[in-house]
Amino acid sequence: MDKIIINGPCRLEGEVEIAGAKNAIVAILPAAMLVDGVCRIENVPKISDVENICNILSAMGAAVRRVEEKTLEVDCSSVRCSEVPYEFARKFRASYYFLGALLGRFHTATVAMPGGCHLGARPIDQHVKAFEQLGATVEIKHGNVHCRADRLTASGIYLDMVSVGATINAMLAAVKAEGLTVIENVAKEPHIVDVANFLNSMGANIRGAGTDVIKIQGVSRLQGGSYAVIPDQIEAGTYMAAAAATGGRVLIKNIIPKHLECISAKLEEMGVSITEYDDSILVDATAPLKKTNVKTMPYPGFPTDMQPQMCTVMLRAEGISKINESIWDSRFKYTEELTRMNAVISVAGKVATVEGGHQLLGAPVRACDLRAGAAMVIAGLMAQGTTVIEEIDHIRRGYEQIVEKFAALGADIRLVSD
Ligand code: EPZ
Repeated sequence: MDKIIINGPCRLEGEVEIAGAKNAIVAILPAAMLVDGVCRIENVPKISDVENICNILSAMGAAVRRVEEKTLEVDCSSVRCSEVPYEFARKFRASYYFLGALLGRFHTATVAMPGGCHLGARPIDQHVKAFEQLGATVEIKHGNVHCRADRLTASGIYLDMVSVGATINAMLAAVKAEGLTVIENVAKEPHIVDVANFLNSMGANIRGAGTDVIKIQGVSRLQGGSYAVIPDQIEAGTYMAAAAATGGRVLIKNIIPKHLECISAKLEEMGVSITEYDDSILVDATAPLKKTNVKTMPYPGFPTDMQPQMCTVMLRAEGISKINESIWDSRFKYTEELTRMNAVISVAGKVATVEGGHQLLGAPVRACDLRAGAAMVIAGLMAQGTTVIEEIDHIRRGYEQIVEKFAALGADIRLVSD
């Protein structure tokens, strides 16, 4: 098993370039199933979730070509299969986007129940509800989700809770349904807007993405085209947190500052200086940090996917900070790993109490999930001595060249393969 080894502490300094958004591309690639012709997709991050989806597309008969370092051409015209087997689906959560995409294209879809990060219960009842509202029958049997419809007809869909996955899946299934579908109480994350923009650039008629209500006028056909994925909000936020946690000064490039406002505001509250430019942001955390409280919320609130990284920033601030996790039931497992590094954190239900100001000490730790893994890397940069991070496949799912990027910012970090 590969490991990341970090000798700390260090103060990050320099520039880092942010890749395309993981949570957009993991939906855009399945969405290509709905398109007749070649989709040229630019700014594709080099992460293992993308490799996994490309493997699924190829196994189903799509032509997938990497034409430039960050550009893929995907042509799903010759796909005839509407099933994603367990061996592929178990590797990542977003495999559920094949349900909406295949249902929209073939009116039938079978996808094994998805895998992905363990963050507590991850029901898909809202996805199912959206498909049923569009006229499909859905059955979950033997670990597979089967969807089938004679025809997909537009409908009003009201989501019971704000769900990123259900919003995108409802869009995918409705884009070619007959008539006007109205989806209410939708998620507003930047990657929702990006998926809608991708589909619109291929000929879909989706309005309102980024607001509470999305309206989709069904079209009979989507044709090929070219699209560039937005920068990754969470990767950018992770480097912002790393700069803040190490007292560093880092220019974060190829970003959309508006998407980072919820993170910038919190860091500024803690005493970090943030300067926004058109497509970059300078994080200067050389001043001491103040404690703070964070509650995770759907966008534009503070993202749950930044919660573990923000915890490491709190560890540098004097005093007691609190984190209230309102999205996932079980997203504090990583705090046990931080405690092994001399962090003082206690968890009661959905609230973590973080006592800052204690010097972290290097230790062997594991990446319990993707964002927990990012937090372990930041903690390793802050800690005195050597930190060895295991189970780093989680990190590879969503961070492109994390070792190289931190090394370029001055960290003593390396990847070791057994
Ligand atoms: C997406 O997951 C992201 N994954 C997650 O990021 C992120 O944490 C999450 O949104 C919240 O922002 C991808 O985009 C691939 P949800 P998703 O449906 O879509 C409940 C990362 O680190 N819910 O918005 O699965 C659910 O249990 C990953 O990049 C239902 O009850 O999340 C949760 O409490 C981890 N029924 C809440 O809604 C449903 O049918 C939000 O989940 C669907 C969701």
